[in-house]
Amino acid sequence: MNTHLHVTSWVLAFILFIVVVALNKSGKAKGAKIFQMILRLDYLLILYSGGTLLATYFNGPQMGEAIFKGLAGIWAIFAMEMISMKSGREEPTKSWWIQLVIAVLLTLILGFGRLGLGFLP
Ligand code: HEM
Repeated sequence: MNTHLHVTSWVLAFILFIVVVALNKSGKAKGAKIFQMILRLDYLLILYSGGTLLATYFNGPQMGEAIFKGLAGIWAIFAMEMISMKSGREEPTKSWWIQLVIAVLLTLILGFGRLGLGFLP
């Protein structure tokens, strides 16, 4: 259940994030602000679902890896937030894009590849 909430909420975050950046790039700052607010609410869903998943790993053999996965996830959220903000102010975003790619690769590798819980009911 929480895995589904988790995956749904970060897939939704990627979509909202692309919408925010696209709106900012085409000068529609007002529209971008609205989607950015929804994106921020969605971050809370990711954090909540990720946090409860993380709790299931506590004191287990993969606890360290799960904590690392969570930190990479927070890093990905942070990078998305920085790019959304900076794209609105027309500030450079390149270094945050690089960080976003690294953080997302890490979360996907650790999430899908390493941590074995998967889609438990
Ligand atoms: C954009 C951010 C994030 C992405 C792309 C992401 C991606 C993923 C993926 C692909 C999985 C594996 C799902 C599966 O089991 O099939 C997962 C699981 C998990 N995530 Fe995230 N996540 C993000 C944010 C977070 C955050 C912020 C936390 C912690 C606060 C977190 C903690 C966890 C935990 C503990 C699991 C359980 C691993 C498992 O049992 O498979 N994630 N995440």
